[in-house]
Amino acid sequence: MAVITTVDDLKRIYKRRVPKMFYDYAESGSWTEQTFRENTTDFDQIRLRQRVAMDMTGRTTKTQMLGEDVAMPVALAPVGLTGMQSADGEIKAARAAEKFGVPFTLSTMSICSIEDVAENTTKPFWFQVYTLKDDDFMQRLMDRARAANCSALVITVDLQMLGQRHKDLKNGLSAPPKLTVRSVADMMTKWSWGLGMLGTKRRFFGNIVGHAKGVTDPSSLSSWTAQAFDQALDWDRIAQLRKMWGGKIIVKGILDVEDARKAVNVGADAIIVSNHGGRQLDGALSSIRMLPDIVDAVGEQIEVHMDSGIRSGQDVLKAMAMGAKGTYVGRAFVYGLGAAGEAGVTKALEVIHKELDTTMGLCGETDVNALSRSNLLIPADFRGRWET
Ligand code: GLV
Repeated sequence: MAVITTVDDLKRIYKRRVPKMFYDYAESGSWTEQTFRENTTDFDQIRLRQRVAMDMTGRTTKTQMLGEDVAMPVALAPVGLTGMQSADGEIKAARAAEKFGVPFTLSTMSICSIEDVAENTTKPFWFQVYTLKDDDFMQRLMDRARAANCSALVITVDLQMLGQRHKDLKNGLSAPPKLTVRSVADMMTKWSWGLGMLGTKRRFFGNIVGHAKGVTDPSSLSSWTAQAFDQALDWDRIAQLRKMWGGKIIVKGILDVEDARKAVNVGADAIIVSNHGGRQLDGALSSIRMLPDIVDAVGEQIEVHMDSGIRSGQDVLKAMAMGAKGTYVGRAFVYGLGAAGEAGVTKALEVIHKELDTTMGLCGETDVNALSRSNLLIPADFRGRWET
């Protein structure tokens, strides 16, 4: 591997190695991509308070997320089609996460199935579900996740219909990719990716195909979401899903104080402040801007996690100092996976860990759990002043 010092280095290699269709899938926001962009540029607005002559020895990034020990407060987010970024991608990412000591979350929309990941790892992972109309299928997904020893269910509540991502439509995104003149010409330049794909049989949505009824086009994400997702979702249904699961739940996709309070009321164990990486409601605020209001409202009652926009250890530090108890990376690990498989995911985690650890020291902190807003310089109007 070339000398990798940033997650962006991995992204450059990833772009060269993976078919455009899958690069575009990961690297898109919905509509104008305003929210997608602001998820990262809003992090840049927050500055760090430099402190000196404070003993920085004995630093630790260890903490807990949902009662589980983690080497740093960075879980791998559920990302659809991860097994199209690299052959058996979910297995590779789960193994890298396990060895590093951070949680891995498997997406329902994965290529490797729940069972595939369970057979190839030794520690419990988290499983993400969308809210679907088909109760039998939901129940079976949960039974499978329980049988695989998953220790938490992540319920995505911000995707009852898909935010439009123009590039996916233009590229004709599917898994496996449909063979057109354009896609074949592109794939011929991505030979190591192609060899990997020829070497695995995992090329379809492993949790769905053969398990869900009425899947008319097993390769298309958008057609299945349109048919299966429950647009009538409400908090009673979320409470019902919690009962069906019977274990810990994390509600993913909260971006509003009122919704955060509702998640507390249904007994969620944690929430993820998230705008789905800018892939759903374009025009929504960035997660890092919404985080402080939500922490202030419910941080004493529930574990508040955040995702959307984290690309570095400094971003992790800013989120933790703002009051999050954990963060998630999606794209950052996918860049590593596409660049170099399992070793690339490990590299992404190492880069983030080093940035977090060094930045903590230079801020005069030795314990990730002790970070607070006093480590940050936050622009006075960061939360925004909006008409009510
Ligand atoms: C699925 O959750 C996606 O954002 O594509």
